[in-house]
Amino acid sequence: MKNNIFGLLSIAAVLAVTTFFIASQNEGVWVAPPEADKLKNPFEGEKKSGKGENLFSLNCERCHGNTGKGDGVDGKKLNPKPADLTSKRVQKQSDGAIFWKLSNGRGEMIAFKNTIGEKDRWRLVNYIRELGKNQMAFFESKKTNSSAIKFFNSEFKRK
Ligand code: HEC
Repeated sequence: MKNNIFGLLSIAAVLAVTTFFIASQNEGVWVAPPEADKLKNPFEGEKKSGKGENLFSLNCERCHGNTGKGDGVDGKKLNPKPADLTSKRVQKQSDGAIFWKLSNGRGEMIAFKNTIGEKDRWRLVNYIRELGKNQMAFFESKKTNSSAIKFFNSEFKRK
């Protein structure tokens, strides 16, 4: 009897370790290589993303949703889910890192370097910034609590 319990416990331990391993491989945080941070955005500082919005609705919206929250129709069945591009986690990355990710892809996230030209990929980066700001504007428009607004301002401020 003792042996049986011990056997079951070891099986449970092996299962737990395997599950953790598989989960960490699938949902591991996606980090762009450090050299990506050095890429120069040719449209840096431009207020409008130009064609960015059109490119986004054509290529990205079905997974990332029209406000970039990751709630597009085709994204629902994916694991991991399409990223919330308005989130602090994404917005705090450099333009170069975002550019690198949408160029090279990973898993279900398509590598767009073969289908979208370099300049247009930078326009998409700028549009992702716009989506991040819209999200912030939404919180500001609530104007309920000024300390909450300050918090969001500081959280979303780019370095
Ligand atoms: C078929 C669905 C799909 C489409 C279409 C798609 N994405 Fe994604 N995207 C994903 C998924 C899924 C992830 C999460 C990938 C991961 O973490 O392994 C992702 C992640 C990303 C990330 C990385 C966010 C981060 O830091 O974790 C960026 C940036 C991104 N997508 C931008 C875009 C842009 C821009 C487009 C359109 C040009 C686009 N995506 C189109 C599914 C999609």
